[in-house]
Parts: sequence; C-alpha cells; structure tokens
Amino acid sequence: MGVEITVDGLTKSFGKQLIWADVSLTVPAGEICVMLGPSGTGKSVFLKALIGLLKPDSGSIIIEGTDIASCSEKDLYEIRKLFGVLFQDGAMFGSMNLYDNVAFPLREHTKKSESEIRDIVMEKMDLVGLLGAEDKLPGEISGGMRKRAGLARALVLDPEIVLFDEPDSGLDPVRTAFLNQLIVDLNAQIDATFLIVTHDINTARTVPDNIGLLYHKHLAMFGPREMLLSSEEPVVRQFLNAQRVGPIGMSEEKDADELLAEKDMDLPPLPPIALQLEPSNGIPRRSQRPPGEWCRENGITPPPGSFTSDAALA
Ligand SMILES: Nc1ncnc2c1ncn2[C@@H]1O[C@H](COP(=O)(O)OP(=O)(O)OP(=O)(O)O)[C@@H](O)[C@H]1O
Ligand SMILES: [Mg+2]
Repeated sequence: MGVEITVDGLTKSFGKQLIWADVSLTVPAGEICVMLGPSGTGKSVFLKALIGLLKPDSGSIIIEGTDIASCSEKDLYEIRKLFGVLFQDGAMFGSMNLYDNVAFPLREHTKKSESEIRDIVMEKMDLVGLLGAEDKLPGEISGGMRKRAGLARALVLDPEIVLFDEPDSGLDPVRTAFLNQLIVDLNAQIDATFLIVTHDINTARTVPDNIGLLYHKHLAMFGPREMLLSSEEPVVRQFLNAQRVGPIGMSEEKDADELLAEKDMDLPPLPPIALQLEPSNGIPRRSQRPPGEWCRENGITPPPGSFTSDAALA
C-alpha cells in the first residue's frame, strides 16, 4: 500500500522569480520523507505542485502512471483523491464543530450515508485521540488539538499519500513529540506514503526514512535519513545541526566576506545519529531498515554514540 511519487527535473518560477530548478527525487511508497529548507525556499510551493494546485514550468511528477504536471483537469481530480493534506494552520472552518469539519470531505466527495459518515469520523477522531471533542468549535481548542483535528480530516478519504505542511509549527516540544509519535503510528497503521515539511530538527532526525533539503533554488540533497545525518556537506551539516557556521546566512546565503571570516573555524563534531522512532506498543512494526544498516552498507563510520538508546534519549 501507499503510492510512489517520482519527481523529475521539476522547475518552478513566478514571473521572473525562480523558486527552484531541476528538482528530482523519488518518494518511495509507504515511507516517510521529510523536506527541510530555510524559509522561503519553496517547500510549500513544492507541496502545492505535488497536488496540482500550482503548475510547474517544466519537469514531471508521476503518480500511478499519471503526470500531475501535464495531465487533464479530469485526471487531476481523480489523482487528488489519493491525497490527504494537513495544512499549516489546520485550515478548519471556524463556524463548524470538529465533527462537521472532519465529515466535510466525505459529504463533499462521496455519496456515503450519514450513518456511514459517522462511523468513519468517529474512527478517525479516535485515531488522533480526539474522541469526545466532536462538539467543540476550532476556536475553543488548543493549537495541538487543531492540528490533530486537521489530521483526522486529512485521513477520512483513506489517502494513499499524506502531505504535512509544518505539522509541528506552533506546538511546544512535548506536543511535537506526541505528534511525531502519532505520525509514526499512523504510518504503520495506514501504510500510506508520508511527506512532511518541517523546520523541527528533532522531527527530521527521528521520524523519516528519507530527508531532502531545498536550498539556494535547488534540491541540495535527498536520501536515507542516515546519509543526511552523517553528511559532511556544509549546507546539510549546518542545517541539520542548527549551526551558524556554514553557507546559510540570515538572508539565505552568506556573502564572501562572511564565509572567509569563518574559513578557519573548527566545526563541532557531528552529533550521534538518533534512533528512528518506532511505532507504539501494540501497533505493527514498520518495515524499516535496522539501525545503522545504511552506514554499514556504505562504509560510513557513524558519529560516536550513534544508534544506542542513550543517543535516542539525547
Ligand atoms: N502563488 C504565488 N505567487 C507568487 N509567488 C509565490 C506564490 N506562492 C509562493 N510564492 C513565493 O515563492 C517563494 C517560496 O514560498 P514558500 O511558501 O513555498 O516558501 P517555504 O519554503 O514554504 O517557506 P516557509 O518555511 O517560511 O514556510 C516565496 O518567495 C513566495 O513569495
Ligand atoms: Mg511554507
């Protein structure tokens, strides 16, 4: 289950402003990918291109044999049914209670009876831990609950692909940790393909199977989590370790003087690679690789302390 997304040579600009060029990657079926990048590098634009809300200038996005970038409106309408999208703010209708918000896509896109709709809504509310909150209005609940309600709504049409745009923005570290666990549990349960845009380094280090980094109008790197976490590539290393030393500056790129000034600075050692989050007890294991396998296969010595439970706690 889950559907593969193959992006090839994708380029997008608005007028004269190039957002990114020649982005190529494959999001494997059923896996979790995280897309990182400084603010304004076009991560949200990338998600919108994937669901066909924005047309790229060139390149292709192949999902189940259909190219989203060039297909007809009718084909696009069909392909969109494969997607569940969690927008950054949850995008709830303020005047509808949570039940009606979550039921909305079912009433809009299916001919299901109200009793069938009730079963599905209650199942998804249960899945995200919101049973009992059906009658609340979005304005009456916390940001974390709104995110989970948005997630329940993204799941009602049983998507094969779930896109998350900064699911953790505005959440405290504890709620982010719960949400990350929920994402891993959901992936194990529904087996869909997940693509998460986030700024949260801890999420990037522990949740995905694959990580991508958009920077300077291109995809700087995309690959297995362990590859990115052990990368010596300056921009990847700087971003994943939240460091000031490196090519990224306050205005995206540092100028030549700034880079020269830090030329001889020693970088701190790479931190250990944390263990990937496992599904909670009672939920079937995901078919992920054993910790460290990618490093072994590729002859890379992971930083000291990697893959121990101590590192996972750090
Ligand atoms: N519909 C649009 N028309 C014109 N320009 C747009 C449009 N949508 C986005 N942009 C521009 O594209 C660039 C990338 O925007 P985007 O929202 O994808 O960034 P982002 O990487 O998601 O940033 P953040 O991390 O802050 O959310 C910005 O310069 C933005 O102004
Ligand atoms: Mg964005």
